[in-house]
Amino acid sequence: MGERMKLALIGFGVVGQGLARILLDKADELRNEQQFTGEIVAVATRSRGTLYQPNGLSIPKLLDAIGRGSLNQYPDEARLARNQDILTLIRECSADAVVECTHTDFQSGQPAADYCAAALESGKHVVLANKGPVAVAYAELRALAAKTGKRLLFEATVMAGTPCIRLAQTALAGCRIEEARGILNGTTNYILTQMEGGLSYADALADAQRLGYAEADPTADVSGRDAVGKLLILSQALFNRKLTIDQVAMTGITGITPADIEAARAAGERYKLIARVSREGCSVRPERIPTSDPLAAVSGATNAITYQTDLLGPVTLVGAGAGGIQTGFGLLADLLALPQ
Ligand code: HSE
Repeated sequence: MGERMKLALIGFGVVGQGLARILLDKADELRNEQQFTGEIVAVATRSRGTLYQPNGLSIPKLLDAIGRGSLNQYPDEARLARNQDILTLIRECSADAVVECTHTDFQSGQPAADYCAAALESGKHVVLANKGPVAVAYAELRALAAKTGKRLLFEATVMAGTPCIRLAQTALAGCRIEEARGILNGTTNYILTQMEGGLSYADALADAQRLGYAEADPTADVSGRDAVGKLLILSQALFNRKLTIDQVAMTGITGITPADIEAARAAGERYKLIARVSREGCSVRPERIPTSDPLAAVSGATNAITYQTDLLGPVTLVGAGAGGIQTGFGLLADLLALPQ
């Protein structure tokens, strides 16, 4: 592959643009310090066009085009192909790695799971920010990756670029993780924090949407479904155990009132949407936790996870949980980990 890695970005919303922005802004640093050059050869969206340029697309022109509403605003040039069928584009493009960051569907994992399968079958590595395929079809995709000799990496699906998957699978290898317990949804933690400061639920949610933390449909965040989806991924990654979304006890934050938050504060506690997973199963629900708990100090869109381990006891990781650049970094970290 050499030091130039050709990329196909499937989905070009907040996260895809975040990765593109990093590749542009840190191009010199990545080349000089990591011997890495990411070259975007294809970008596909479901409603705003597709582009394929085997010679490499211009990132400034891509960002400008999407900022004006559609990839069709990208200027004409020799060898540029537009508006192809996405599966065909994935199979036939010259990318080394497909970066999947379309919208998440926790029920079917589609259409992203098919995109990932097409990429692996056509000899491309897959790196995901999209949670759906990992939550729903991880075993099948991992088997396909093993069969085709390609990698399937998904650090960006949980806690954005904060390396909770790599910490568990690499740095903590040899420890037995008994349980993971954390704040895994940035939008709800942001809303709860803002409500503690006196903002209304509706205004706090609108801010979270404006800041790019929330899902396209924020119901997934506030209902707890997004955090459940992340637990399904952790269940696979930590315990090799597949759960479905219907098997998880889930309560979101929509029932939390300003009076509840004030009552917790008066008792020296904070409301947090706590997600837990172990070999026995998982749950998501709002809990009042004492301020002495490391998770209580986690504010705004920040996420945190505590791994309860046999050899070290609790190990807590705190960091960004949402946002275009923050999640884009998770994708970059996986791209840097691919064989070159
Ligand atoms: N909507 C998600 C969150 C984005 O708020 O945490 C990151 O998965």
